[in-house]
Amino acid sequence: MNNLPVPAADELALSAELASLIHQEIAAAGGAVPFSHFMERCLYAPGLGYYSAGHRKFGAGGDFVTAPEVSPLFGRCLARSCGEVLQSLGGGDILEFGAGSGQLAIDLLGELESMDCLPERYLVLERSAELKERQQQAIGRHLPQLLDRVSWIDTLPDAGFRGVMLANEVLDAMSVECFQWDGENVALFHVRSEGEGFAWQLQAGETNDATACIDACVSGSNLCAGYISEFNTSMQPWLQTVAECLDQGLVLLIDYGYPRHELFHPQRSSGTLMCHYRQHAHADPLLWPGLQDITAHVNFTAVAEAAVAADLDVAGYTTQTYFLLDCGLEEFLLQSGPTDTMDYMQAAQQAKTLILPGEMGERFKCIGLTRGIDIPVPGFRLHDQRERL
Ligand SMILES: C[S@@+](CC[C@H](N)C(=O)[O-])C[C@H]1O[C@@H](n2cnc3c(N)ncnc32)[C@H](O)[C@@H]1O
Repeated sequence: MNNLPVPAADELALSAELASLIHQEIAAAGGAVPFSHFMERCLYAPGLGYYSAGHRKFGAGGDFVTAPEVSPLFGRCLARSCGEVLQSLGGGDILEFGAGSGQLAIDLLGELESMDCLPERYLVLERSAELKERQQQAIGRHLPQLLDRVSWIDTLPDAGFRGVMLANEVLDAMSVECFQWDGENVALFHVRSEGEGFAWQLQAGETNDATACIDACVSGSNLCAGYISEFNTSMQPWLQTVAECLDQGLVLLIDYGYPRHELFHPQRSSGTLMCHYRQHAHADPLLWPGLQDITAHVNFTAVAEAAVAADLDVAGYTTQTYFLLDCGLEEFLLQSGPTDTMDYMQAAQQAKTLILPGEMGERFKCIGLTRGIDIPVPGFRLHDQRERL
């Protein structure tokens, strides 16, 4: 990893502590753990994992930039979609999964307030205690008048949720299995100890729930022997729980990814695992446990199938570009000031990052899953691409 910035000594010490914990788990497991276990610990080990420890992750000074960090235009557009759905339901709540720095909640609630369309409650379900605290402070600072509507929950309500559930870049932050297809069978990558560090170990001949799910997912995809990819085994049970809790409303998932046939393209035969460290992207997840983000692209066909199995309707699928344009991006941009002012130029630059194909516009997709909604969901009216799933 030649051109990566070198972490500071205290960061390396924290990483060594997490590495030591994982080495113990590997020894207890007989010499190797599935990659999904390794990734889960790297991201979420209490106090040490990437999302659980206190590093600066989001925004220009962090490791990567998400759409809410690029521009408030993102949250304002989402507010259009959420607002219309809430109006069609005659009220309801918003629940955001994995709220990051809290920026999306701030922009969304601010816009909904100006539309006079606030949700009854804004619930946040966040795995990371550290981020939860940061979100509370940010929302308290920017929207003190709305803080009493916002609450943080540790589990989903059992049932009866009415409103909108949102997750921006949450599916890509769930741990995945990493597999290789040998032409007939799936073999899972495990992680073993190698000195103070870690090494891959491909485990052939294993059959378990994960290999069965992956078998079903890849069958018919004509992968060549040696093809490597990832599979999010938590997504289907997660979506099932989400669906059980939803009485009426919209589940809006935004992430980078592809429909299955595009995900399993020959160009991606080494998989889509990606790590981010201080704005540098690379592909070695075994490096510096806990210090870098690890992600994998989302299989949107698998998401749609899991939604249908959970009795949700797939109401729309499109790129971030079309979603934001349908939700009034251009109109919001013009509101940022006369076109010859700095405010306008800055907002126009941010809008380009959100929608240009070479930036976030086409890599990021939006999928809308609904139950009991009878309006076309804003965001999917301009160019619905469900036929690509
Ligand atoms: C890449 S960050 C995205 C943060 C934010 N949504 C944004 O767009 O800036 C992923 C977030 O998802 C959270 N997360 C991951 N799995 C989750 C789950 N099952 N439920 C709730 N939050 C989760 C992480 O703790 C983190 O806050």
